[in-house]
Amino acid sequence: MTTWTARPETTSDIAAIRDINLAAFPTSGEADIVDALRADPKAWIDGLSMVTEGSDGTLTGHALLTRCHVDGAPALALAPCAVRPSAQRTGAGSAAIRAALDAARSLGENLVLVLGHPEYYPRFGFTPASRFGIRAPFDVPDEAMMAMALDDTRPVPTGTIRYPAAFGV
Ligand SMILES: CC(C)(COP(=O)(O)OP(=O)(O)OC[C@H]1O[C@@H](n2cnc3c(N)ncnc32)[C@H](O)[C@@H]1OP(=O)(O)O)[C@@H](O)C(=O)NCCC(=O)NCCS
Repeated sequence: MTTWTARPETTSDIAAIRDINLAAFPTSGEADIVDALRADPKAWIDGLSMVTEGSDGTLTGHALLTRCHVDGAPALALAPCAVRPSAQRTGAGSAAIRAALDAARSLGENLVLVLGHPEYYPRFGFTPASRFGIRAPFDVPDEAMMAMALDDTRPVPTGTIRYPAAFGV
């Protein structure tokens, strides 16, 4: 089993992060979104773009949390998550996601939204966003739009998600 180290991105990681997203997805769409999010001070939060590296220092995984809103209240969007195909299903994605969620909790963030594989994200604590009274701003299968509260003693806003402009939705 590979041991992955997760840490926040630094300036020197930016090209490798683009490369990971280009390799993980069929088009450059996600890589372009990451770059647009990084250029948007209203969306980007330093410390919440996580990379995973192997023991030789090669970057293999990336998970990104950026600012979104639910009914005007701040929340975080987890997107995209990407791992180089050669390293998929070896824990690199999970390591990046868990580190990003831990960092968000340390910053005092609470609500996190993710649109993605309903077989994958529940392991981190995500459940259908509809259970929180939260809706995507577009049609999506109920089980694919997920939410979690990092501190479940705190209230969570209800309503429709407003994504950063970079997502184009
Ligand atoms: C999805 C992704 C980020 C997961 O990262 P990873 O490092 O490959 O996954 P991990 O090793 O942390 O976790 C492995 C588990 O994830 C599951 N998994 C991986 N990709 C999956 C997928 N596309 N759909 C459902 N489950 C998936 C595996 O079945 C495995 O489950 P198990 O632990 O029950 O056996 C990565 O596979 C990836 O980049 N995929 C292509 C891009 C993508 O689809 N990104 C997500 C957009 S929502």
